[in-house]
Amino acid sequence: MNDFTYKNGALYCEELRVADIAEKVGTPFYLYSRNTFSSHYKAIDEAFGDIPHLVCYSVKTNSNVAIVSLMASQGAGADVVSGGELYRALQAGVDPKKIVFAGLGKTEAEIEYALKEGILMFNVESSQELMLINEVATRTGTEAPIAVRVNPDIDPRTHPYIATGLKQSKFGIPLAQAMAEYEVAQRLPGLNPIGIHQHIGSQILDSAPFENSLTKITNLAKSLRVLGMDIRYVNIGGGFGIQYTDEEAPAPEQFASALVPLLNETGCTVIMEVGRMIAGNAGILVTSVLYNKQGEEKKFVVVDAAMNDLIRPSLYQAAHQIAPVVQKDGAPEVKVDVVGPVCESGDFLAQDRELPEVQSGDLLAVFTAGAYGFAMSSNYNSRTRVPEILVSGRKAYVIRRRETYEDLIRGEAIPEDL
Ligand code: LLP
Repeated sequence: MNDFTYKNGALYCEELRVADIAEKVGTPFYLYSRNTFSSHYKAIDEAFGDIPHLVCYSVKTNSNVAIVSLMASQGAGADVVSGGELYRALQAGVDPKKIVFAGLGKTEAEIEYALKEGILMFNVESSQELMLINEVATRTGTEAPIAVRVNPDIDPRTHPYIATGLKQSKFGIPLAQAMAEYEVAQRLPGLNPIGIHQHIGSQILDSAPFENSLTKITNLAKSLRVLGMDIRYVNIGGGFGIQYTDEEAPAPEQFASALVPLLNETGCTVIMEVGRMIAGNAGILVTSVLYNKQGEEKKFVVVDAAMNDLIRPSLYQAAHQIAPVVQKDGAPEVKVDVVGPVCESGDFLAQDRELPEVQSGDLLAVFTAGAYGFAMSSNYNSRTRVPEILVSGRKAYVIRRRETYEDLIRGEAIPEDL
């Protein structure tokens, strides 16, 4: 379900014509639907409605403070991985008691910040980090609620760059060592072990990897309770996959019906750190065609968006559907590479893609760009980062303005003696 639909050949976001928005704000830009964001959140929340649970929106997915605030208004907590993300979540009004802090390189300053704000828990990624959190907590006279992020050695069958729960991965603590870490935590005055955390990967398209790792985690929870630890939370991480092109992605209810019976057995409140399933299909990237270019072997459509705006195709060979914002009757299909102006051969939004023939000035929509789109964008080639627009019914809000050339050099300085 999403709110990007064609009516009489024109793409709409909720009740607004995308071409009209493009005329007002110029291209390229990211466009989000408020209703899609909230209905995706609700679908997940309701699917897991039979068990005590908390959906922590994964801030890294789409970090705009308006989006995080929208999620908070729906009741979501936040999964953060840096002091910056914690700041965003707090600015957006997320209840600190619904914030979990993951990430394997937390600094002392970040730990202190999170402790001061009273977050729900830290997801601990190494023994050394465990010791540091204890130190900071005792020094500041508090106790840090923690979960150990376990690495269950599960193959999530996804792109290798986004698989995180395999034993070769840098994330988490091997399951076999986790028990010992919990025992250390139990003895240390600054730590209070209250949960178990895992995050096995992203864009996972079936529930089997979750089921396998949950069995392992449930056993760990039982053993920890035997040792007298009050394990109240099982955090299954994120990773629910979505449809980009023709893959079949399970609906939230399908994940829930496979996982709820297992989760029930843990006797815990379940935390989910959901990103892509909420944000992915709630956003598109709108770009204009600059040129058609005939190479010796290939046809190129040069557009004004590039890898610095949406890096997923270059980085993960990700396929995003691309289509004209206004359909033209009878336009013949041609096989093209859709490329941006950046000076890298890896700068493409699609390769060998059949698209209706387009002309300079035509608008194209790159779909499923709401997750890891703007959030991963950069200023490479000194390109200004694009605006983000949020549509709600008939209204469009600029939730991040287009950067200017002045923005590009803000913070830079030329030494006086140069
Ligand atoms: N929790 C943790 C600890 C994570 O590292 C992540 C994502 C999530 C939750 C949210 O996962 P999701 O529900 O969105 O699958 N840039 C890549 C994806 C990287 C995922 C990083 N971690 C992409 O564009 O595909």
